[in-house]
Amino acid sequence: PERLRVALLGCGAVGAGVLTYLHSRPDLFEVNPVLVRRPAKYGEPGRYTAQLTEALAGKPDLVVELLGGADHPAELMLAALHDGAQVVTANKAAVAKHYDSLHACAEAGGGAIRYSAAVGGGAPILETLARLEGDVVAVEGVMNGTCNYLLSRLAEGWTFDDAVRQAQELGYAEADPAADVDSHDAADKLSVLIREAFGVALLPDRIAKESLRDVTPEAAQAALARGEVLKQVGRCRLLEDGSIAAEVRVVALPAAHPLAGARNEENRFLVTDTSGKVHEVFGKGAGRWPTATAVFADVMDAQRALLGRVAQAATPTQAAPLKLLA
Ligand code: NDP
Ligand code: HSE
Repeated sequence: PERLRVALLGCGAVGAGVLTYLHSRPDLFEVNPVLVRRPAKYGEPGRYTAQLTEALAGKPDLVVELLGGADHPAELMLAALHDGAQVVTANKAAVAKHYDSLHACAEAGGGAIRYSAAVGGGAPILETLARLEGDVVAVEGVMNGTCNYLLSRLAEGWTFDDAVRQAQELGYAEADPAADVDSHDAADKLSVLIREAFGVALLPDRIAKESLRDVTPEAAQAALARGEVLKQVGRCRLLEDGSIAAEVRVVALPAAHPLAGARNEENRFLVTDTSGKVHEVFGKGAGRWPTATAVFADVMDAQRALLGRVAQAATPTQAAPLKLLA
């Protein structure tokens, strides 16, 4: 079969990892010049571009969005879906805010949108919710790697600013780390989790959230001395009237609590099902390789879906339509 034409939008902490994976399969993927703001920073003239038209040249089969932001990337994804492309993204801000239009456009255009890495990074929380479809009553979790890293360092006596700087250097933080420390990122993720777990629209700005800015090294160390650990925890629960209670808070958990053991950039989720069983989902929640690996798994799913479509077109007698949507 022919190689798929791929548009990669963004080549930062995550995008550079995804580009490495795409280049490792030249038999499958032909990658357009990668969209960045400042191509000169990336070297290798011709491989990077600031021109959207170059990045999207030749009607790509697959668009991988790793820019960050909410409205601008959503517009680009909507346009790609409208043209029938497969879209993969790790962008929880865009998915949370534009969930309905992205899904409607995917359905109308005959493409699909996949965003496994947007929540949990390498932890398969969205896959777990899909498996438990209709059977979930509550989800709670440590879902921001930067905040977890930050709280871990504060407990060791680091200053807040040093810990944020290090999280940026490690590629965990959002382009503006205020999105992490003021809990907007966790609220974006919680909003997506609520959609996937309960099918309910609760936009991130309607979710109560607490910033980490007032947490001091002394408070983190005092918690440790009491046998507790400070964690930023996002929680959502289905109420009897069908509405959802949700919040993001900084809480002191007993050291033996399953969420308390999350170290550094790790994410942990506890999913309670209707029988009361609690499903634990752990994994690396931020950073280049855990995230790029999850993105590339979506890319491979998209590739298989597209190949299925080609195979189906080539064998018109085949009766059963292939399932194209994740
Ligand atoms: P970075 O800030 O490291 O990289 C962003 C990339 O996009 C850069 O190459 C930047 O180019 C480019 N870019 C941004 N805006 C524009 C624009 N308007 N036009 C052209 N190029 C642009 O981000 P990350 O890789 O960390 O994150 C990407 C996405 O993945 C975000 O949505 C983030 O929330 C999500 N994510 C990140 C994770 C992580 O661990 N970092 C984990 C899970 C999800 P330039 O360098 O020239 O400015
Ligand atoms: N900034 C995010 C975090 C990236 O630290 O969790 C992963 O979504």
